[in-house]
Amino acid sequence: MIRLVAIMFVLTSLSGSAFAAEETIATLRAAAISEAPQAPALAKVFNRDLRQVRNYPEQPPLIPHKIEGYQIDLNTNKCLTCHSRVATGQSQAPMVSITHFMDREGQFLASISPRRYFCNLCHVVQHEVQPLIENEFVDIDSLLSTGGQGTKN
Ligand code: HEC
Ligand code: HEC
Repeated sequence: MIRLVAIMFVLTSLSGSAFAAEETIATLRAAAISEAPQAPALAKVFNRDLRQVRNYPEQPPLIPHKIEGYQIDLNTNKCLTCHSRVATGQSQAPMVSITHFMDREGQFLASISPRRYFCNLCHVVQHEVQPLIENEFVDIDSLLSTGGQGTKN
């Protein structure tokens, strides 16, 4: 009998916690976890052909143009048809930098390094949307100008 009561207690507390989870409002989707809210419309891709300022020197630059339908697989790499060394005369696109020819030992290869072949591992397009949450990122140049004290207070 005691064992039965114990099992019932466990069951009730489990269903209790499941109920609590259902009531939680996930912040970014602004709906309960159990609900399937209507998805927002797809946002436009930033496609203004203007290079974006990098947030820090090592940042892979953001892609300032559409890449829809640009295929990258074993046989073809659409990005390199404009960004490879030989293509830049025709495309006037910036050449992939010399780091993209380096292997992991820092040796320069004759052509693009396999670990830089899938461009979208690092380079991404942006969408024309407002940030979902406040961003407190401080650019290093602003930080340096405050003598490392930050921009707050
Ligand atoms: C039809 C030619 C073309 C193709 C294909 C192309 N790009 Fe570009 N890309 C450009 C040009 C030209 C620029 C210079 C800015 C502009 O005009 O948009 C550029 C800019 C960029 C930049 C910004 C560089 C910087 O210094 O800010 C990145 C990153 C980039 N492209 C990545 C890609 C990736 C990744 C792909 C494939 C998914 C790709 N591009 C395919 C022509 C192309
Ligand atoms: C492993 C991450 C990674 C991959 C994969 C990668 N990149 Fe980059 N890319 C970077 C970083 C980081 C930079 C900035 C530092 C540098 O130049 O290495 C950069 C810089 C660039 C630039 C700017 C060069 C300049 O001198 O202004 C272009 C254009 C570019 N990448 C295109 C490409 C293309 C096209 C591909 C695919 C063939 C590609 N990248 C694959 C990380 C990557």
